[in-house]
Amino acid sequence: MSVTQLRRPGAADTPVRITADTLLQKKQARIPIVALTAYDYPTARLVDEAGIDLILVGDSLAMVALGYDNTLPVTMDEMLHHTRAVARGLRRAFLVADMPYGSYHLSELEGLSSALRFIKEAGAQAVKIEGGQTRASLVRRMTDAEISVVGHIGLTPQSVHRMGGYKVQGRTWEAYDRLCRDAEALEQAGAIAVVLEGIPRELATDITSQLTIPTIGIGAGPECDGQILVFHDLFNLTFAPHAKFARQYGDAAAFFSDALSRFRADVSRREFPSDAESYHLPREMRSDLELIEPAARHG
Ligand code: KIV
Repeated sequence: MSVTQLRRPGAADTPVRITADTLLQKKQARIPIVALTAYDYPTARLVDEAGIDLILVGDSLAMVALGYDNTLPVTMDEMLHHTRAVARGLRRAFLVADMPYGSYHLSELEGLSSALRFIKEAGAQAVKIEGGQTRASLVRRMTDAEISVVGHIGLTPQSVHRMGGYKVQGRTWEAYDRLCRDAEALEQAGAIAVVLEGIPRELATDITSQLTIPTIGIGAGPECDGQILVFHDLFNLTFAPHAKFARQYGDAAAFFSDALSRFRADVSRREFPSDAESYHLPREMRSDLELIEPAARHG
């Protein structure tokens, strides 16, 4: 039986919830971890029912669901609101909530209390924070407070202004070594997994083989222990140019546009709703109605 097929005894229809331990077992068994973002109840249901292992309520929601230019403006309240909606749709997947920019940058205490809110108020099983060695002490404090933490290094979108745009990271030996030390520091501080974003395949392979905890790649090549993509990228729903790693698996934009223009046309031609899609009076009232002149009906 594979790690993904395990079921709770006596609960044939209830899938066993994925935990941090399941993710670790998958790495050890060399079974790829499949991860995706979701931001609301219906997509969470679909993603969970498709057997995706890990669902991240990413702060990418700022861009793909809320229409901001980058991830920086999204607030704690918005992230909590979307995390709660996703949590209500999950039965099996491991739920990770992204900590938004500004929720862990002022002090460790503030970071700790923001993280606790995702666990206590929104039903997340873990939180994700961006940064390596500079976050190690915060990761340690969160871990000591029983909070599972996923690290995120490489192209970290919350550093967009410092990086001067969304650029592949780790392409000099200095940057390569720094990212290896970042990954190691996160593992030593107690992180349960590390997202590797926008780094060369060779570096991701190196980090993946050095770490005991799983690496989850996005634009980091196929040797990571798992892969994550943004839901809207999979379905052509971003209204933005696609990164080369963001393989498209469907065209929901075309699907929705077609359905919307048919709905518009049907209403415009009075072809929607049909009689079968309308409610009616009981038969005897309809017969009465036929005998009464329209002008006399309300008098
Ligand atoms: O916010 C997000 O969606 C992410 C993933 C791209 C890893 O951080």
